[in-house]
Amino acid sequence: MRTIVITGASRGLGLASSAHLYKQGWRIVAAMRSVDAGLERLRAATGASVDDPRLVGIKLDLGDSSSIAQAATDIVEHVGAPDVIVHNAGLAAAGSAEETPMEAWHQLFATNLFGPVELTKALLPAMRKKGSGRIVVISSQGGIRGMPGISTYSASKGALERWAESMSQEIAPFGLGVTILVTGTFKTEILTEQTPDYGDHNGPYAKVYEGIHTTGREFVDKNAAPPEKFALALSAAIDDDAPIRRRTVGPDAAGLYIMARLLPGNLVHKIIRKAMKLPAQNALKNA
Ligand SMILES: NC(=O)c1ccc[n+]([C@@H]2O[C@H](COP(=O)([O-])OP(=O)(O)OC[C@H]3O[C@@H](n4cnc5c(N)ncnc54)[C@H](OP(=O)(O)O)[C@@H]3O)[C@@H](O)[C@H]2O)c1
Repeated sequence: MRTIVITGASRGLGLASSAHLYKQGWRIVAAMRSVDAGLERLRAATGASVDDPRLVGIKLDLGDSSSIAQAATDIVEHVGAPDVIVHNAGLAAAGSAEETPMEAWHQLFATNLFGPVELTKALLPAMRKKGSGRIVVISSQGGIRGMPGISTYSASKGALERWAESMSQEIAPFGLGVTILVTGTFKTEILTEQTPDYGDHNGPYAKVYEGIHTTGREFVDKNAAPPEKFALALSAAIDDDAPIRRRTVGPDAAGLYIMARLLPGNLVHKIIRKAMKLPAQNALKNA
């Protein structure tokens, strides 16, 4: 029986992936802020019983170092070194780089980068000792290229990818590997009106936000795929055995990934500006 730790298993992509992999026979370590509520949802989605040893709930708040240390101890105590860790839990925030407050930067980086780094550091000794295992990070289109209106999110995902790449070279000699899943648009709560928006919609960036919001909403309405599709992609990715593998999930992520690799940065900037209906260069000068 193989064991997979999935952070943020309480909803969205983490819930769908945990349910799918449970049905495939994996032992799921669901690391969540609200364990009782999360386990209830997972049991409803899988049909698992309350005492099912293949569904283990672990308390984890990525914004709290002591919670991360305790979660790592609990994981090793319950299941030993996991075969796979999926760093899925994540936060998004909207707003220009200028208007997003520093507290939001700190919160996002704590959840999307420092928490995963800390949890991995705590689990690596056991995984190295075992001599096999995979660390999967869930990145985003915003990690391929800095996207307007979500600089905190883009920066955290870009940093997450660079961290994962660096680490892959260090841990490959110990039999461990890394997969980066560059994820497109899926229908979850990360992309709703509840996403914190720090932009002043009547302020200097109003026209920038207008383009991003109308085109963004249209895009999500038309293209967001069900989380179950993501679960299938994750399920294929966890069997990777190369020291590092980057996969795109969804046609939008694949399209942006190819475009950003093939075209000059200036041209990509222009294409994104047009696609998102952003004001042209100099258009807001002295406005
Ligand atoms: N959906 C997309 O279109 C999309 C696209 C690209 C990348 N992604 C990435 O996919 C991952 C999952 O996102 P999602 O779409 O499933 O979002 P979601 O529905 O909003 O779920 C986010 C998950 O992260 C957990 N979480 C948030 N802060 C946490 C913290 N401090 N400690 C522990 N867990 C925390 C949440 O737990 P609570 O229930 O406790 O809040 C929840 O389980 C994220 O890394 C996201 O960046 C998503």
